[in-house]
Amino acid sequence: MGSGRKPGKGRLFALEPLMGEAHDAPRLASGISELDRVTGGGFVRGSVLLVGGDPGIGKSTLLIQATAALARGGHRAVYISGEEAVTQVRLRAERLGLRDAAVELAAETAVEDIIATLSEGKTPRLIVIDSIQPMWTDTVESAPGTVTQVRGSAQALIRFAKRSGAAIILVGHVTKDGQIAGPRVVEHMVDAVLSFEGKSSHQFRILRAVKNRFGPTDEIGVFEMTGSGLCEVCNPSELFLSERDLGQPGTAVFAGIEGTRPLLVEIQALVAPTSLGTPRRAVVGWDPSRLSMVLAVLEVHCGMRLGAHDVYLNVAGGMRIHEPAGDLAAAAALVSSLVNAPLPPDAVYFGEVSLSGAVRPVTQSATRLKEAAKLGFTRAVVPETARGDTVEPGLRLMDVASLAQLVADVATQGKTILAAKTGGQSR
Ligand code: TYD
Ligand code: MG
Repeated sequence: MGSGRKPGKGRLFALEPLMGEAHDAPRLASGISELDRVTGGGFVRGSVLLVGGDPGIGKSTLLIQATAALARGGHRAVYISGEEAVTQVRLRAERLGLRDAAVELAAETAVEDIIATLSEGKTPRLIVIDSIQPMWTDTVESAPGTVTQVRGSAQALIRFAKRSGAAIILVGHVTKDGQIAGPRVVEHMVDAVLSFEGKSSHQFRILRAVKNRFGPTDEIGVFEMTGSGLCEVCNPSELFLSERDLGQPGTAVFAGIEGTRPLLVEIQALVAPTSLGTPRRAVVGWDPSRLSMVLAVLEVHCGMRLGAHDVYLNVAGGMRIHEPAGDLAAAAALVSSLVNAPLPPDAVYFGEVSLSGAVRPVTQSATRLKEAAKLGFTRAVVPETARGDTVEPGLRLMDVASLAQLVADVATQGKTILAAKTGGQSR
């Protein structure tokens, strides 16, 4: 279709051996290290990247900052806004202190016009299309905003990127329930998909690679939204632990790993008698099915009765935990809330809980322990197998073989604390 060839015999092409010259993808770092960490070292020439996220999360802010960084580095960088007028983009740039950056701006939605304009002169090193939704191409009949138009426009832009060698970033809004089909269909067409996450009520923003043909998919970039734009957060653990409710029952610090970097976050749980017929289970920042699993293990193997309790679990700071290693910390927070006994404030937790109630080893425990020691924690509650790991000075390892053992430890602590509070008169 559209190739203008007669049906029949195809053109012959040469096949190549697997052994041959391979080049590293030519990259250009933005200089925003948290962004470069997620892309895998910078924007690859001729590649197309999709940045998705809820409206208002800060996509336009991040990308105007990236464009300005490249422009300041002497590269041609173009920002095409399909939603905002040029003056609006200018106002934002002014607020961000980027007015002097030599970014080329336009408010356009016709893809053919954009490609024709950008084909003139020196090839831009980076082109931002903010966003892909209102773009339209005359090769497709349907109305702008439809899935067919979004797909057609993305296809034309991808072809332009491959031909010219410019790196293109497409912005896509994704609603909570994934309603807009647009960006979803684009996901499999592009080289990389980054998702910008966080709550607009919170200042933390996390950039996560969902797909990346040229780099890792498990790295995250952490930013803080401030009055003057997004700032990089180079020591995220400190940030995520900055607002802890010390001495309160129901919180545990999880020593996690995101990509190559350790990350300490607080897990908060609230277990309370229910006033409803069916108890509620609500979870933010963790997998609801893992919560169900941990609760089942607590009931079956640890004798905890949760059938008449509402259970709420929250990962502080708007962070999301994907690792099974978070099980032990979540369980500790749940038990602590149920028995109303605070966990030691200087302890971190990690370990995977199996259906049999055993605490299983997890990867990279040495990195986790190192980060915990660095941030001043003095104990780590870990799977038995982590005992052999290099022990950080000042950090005591307390291994647990099973979840039942953890429950017993927390309950004992609770009794001791209660006894201390009531002057030893507890029953
Ligand atoms: P924006 O980048 O427009 O989000 P998106 O493109 O994802 O829809 O940013 C939206 C929010 O960010 C807006 O509510 C205001 C806030 N913001 C700041 O807090 N500080 C800033 O410097 C800027 C530019 C925006
Ligand atoms: Mg925007």
